[in-house]
Amino acid sequence: MSGLFITLEGPEGAGKSTNREYLAARLAEHGIEVLLTREPGGTPLAERVRELLLAPSEEPMAADTELLLVFAARAQHLDRVIRPALARGCVVLCDRFTDATYAYQGGGRGLPEERIAVLEDYVQGGLRPALTLVFDLPIEVGLSRAAARGRLDRFEQEGRAFFDAVRQTYLRRAAAEPQRYRVLDASQPLSEVQQALDALLPQILELCRG
Ligand SMILES: Nc1ncnc2c1ncn2[C@@H]1O[C@H](COP(=O)(O)OP(=O)(O)OP(=O)(O)O)[C@@H](O)[C@H]1O
Ligand SMILES: [Mg+2]
Repeated sequence: MSGLFITLEGPEGAGKSTNREYLAARLAEHGIEVLLTREPGGTPLAERVRELLLAPSEEPMAADTELLLVFAARAQHLDRVIRPALARGCVVLCDRFTDATYAYQGGGRGLPEERIAVLEDYVQGGLRPALTLVFDLPIEVGLSRAAARGRLDRFEQEGRAFFDAVRQTYLRRAAAEPQRYRVLDASQPLSEVQQALDALLPQILELCRG
């Protein structure tokens, strides 16, 4: 038995968390065992690394430090949560994964893609998501949704150029590998985003049945 690894990606406020719950409910209706998790984080230790990554700090964090912390949290998450759940046959719905590293640390911070790829191979071995849903929307829309939640984290404090690069990286990766990615227009009302997810459900169920 082996499960199915699905990731949800997109910038702040795109609706990843909201739609992860929605998709989990639809899959559960089909009797599928779903595990919901997120990155950075997903285990108590990895959540502590998340706090380090998100907290605004006096001391500027070097881009390489950020990259290594992201992968340190991911190694823990894979070992403690993701791999065991996949081995039990669960569908794992993970809010952000390595595509976010390419988008934020690669696109946003400007770290070379090849350096990220080395760590991806090292930490994940051959494991890649079977399906990645990219929630795409204009930067301002996402940021205003995120801002409505209150205090901005260390990433949300970045400027326009950073988020442009994040968005473009997601779209470029999705275009390069269309069989793995589905891009959803997340600027639409929630009901329409969810209709788009409903339309994907047969394909997802097909993947679940292997
Ligand atoms: N399509 C939509 N239209 C309007 N509001 C939405 C839509 N999708 C989500 N929202 C709202 O926007 C806010 C952010 O959504 P959500 O937390 O799901 O985004 P996220 O992608 O998980 O963000 P983050 O990356 O910051 O965790 C929430 O208040 C949510 O209710
Ligand atoms: Mg979220």
